[in-house]
Amino acid sequence: MITTDQTIHTFVEFFRERGHELVPSESLVSPPGDPVLFTTSGMHPLTPYLRGRPHPLGRRLTNRQRCLRTTDLDEVGDDTHLTVFEMLGSWSLGDYDGPQSLRWGYQLLRDGFGIDPGRMHVTVFAGDDYVGPDHESWQTWDELGLPVEPTTDENWWNGPTGLCGPDSEIFVWTGPGIPQGTPTTDDRWVEVWNHVMMRYVRHSDGTLEPLDRPSVDTGMGLERLVRILRNVQSVYEIDLFEPWRTTLPRLWGSLNEPSLRLLSDHLRSTIVVLGDRITPSNTGRGYVPRRLLRRALTTLWRDDPTRTLSDLPIDLIEDTLGHFRQSRHPQEVRSDLLDEEHKFALLLRRGRQVLSHKRFTGPLSDDDYRYLHDTHGLPRDLVVYLSTENAGRS
Ligand code: SER
Repeated sequence: MITTDQTIHTFVEFFRERGHELVPSESLVSPPGDPVLFTTSGMHPLTPYLRGRPHPLGRRLTNRQRCLRTTDLDEVGDDTHLTVFEMLGSWSLGDYDGPQSLRWGYQLLRDGFGIDPGRMHVTVFAGDDYVGPDHESWQTWDELGLPVEPTTDENWWNGPTGLCGPDSEIFVWTGPGIPQGTPTTDDRWVEVWNHVMMRYVRHSDGTLEPLDRPSVDTGMGLERLVRILRNVQSVYEIDLFEPWRTTLPRLWGSLNEPSLRLLSDHLRSTIVVLGDRITPSNTGRGYVPRRLLRRALTTLWRDDPTRTLSDLPIDLIEDTLGHFRQSRHPQEVRSDLLDEEHKFALLLRRGRQVLSHKRFTGPLSDDDYRYLHDTHGLPRDLVVYLSTENAGRS
């Protein structure tokens, strides 16, 4: 069965054989001045080049890039979402056109990864009041014989301003038996690869300016792809998570599936964030590892408050940093983890003491939350958690 590393290798080599240069992975820290705190997709560090600046490695690029998305935090634990994940990407910076990218995409999925075209479905941009339907992509997929679903909102990349254009997504059927429905009507169609025809810049007044040099930007979620190739139910069952799934129950006794998933995702993500030398703090970028770790510890201590991260074998930290080729020493990361654990334990102790005061026995007002935060440093979500704990005891 194909491994995660073999999947990366197959992808990168496919594009290298077609003249693409491998761009080194960047850190999770987005460049200075970037409105977003973390690298959220493989194309993110390439934004200036997609806007027209010549790239030192040329016009055909490929990479694997670690990414972090906290928008999906509540979805973490389902079958497909992770906080830190990797994207495989390919780019034509004003070189070949969209149909070429789609044909290569199809070829790699079918011949390189052995996915049966009978399990593939694609979507294309249907057109809106400003931009017409993406006929080129539509026709390419028709020629390749894949079923096409046109949509408007789902096939326009991306936000309110900046680079944008119509995109075409490739989905793979993950349900049993013969595929049913379409990507928008049956969520057993899982999106694996997005090909964006980067043709415009959207200005803040909403107007679209065509790029002098349109590009193609593609991104594929690595863990989702491996899940499909290994034919397992969730991303947590791929080889990358095997050490977590075997080690955590050994350390901390039986953990139910949602707890095991949350702990694996959050601990692993925190290690990667710390590996990129982000220091936990109460605001900005540093709040993310703090929040992830506190969510993990809350889950860990719910059944047994004596559990501790000092049990975590150093190999697990080392393997995680090694996978992402991060140079920080595993012992340093471990010591950050323990430091944060200690701070959180102190905060919980203080929180329990403060909340045991009779002023806080009933429902809390916004003023109470403000006071608890400003005077005692207790964040709202922690107070909510401790209040639930109290309610559970009484
Ligand atoms: N820009 C697209 C995405 O983020 C493909 O890289 O999904």
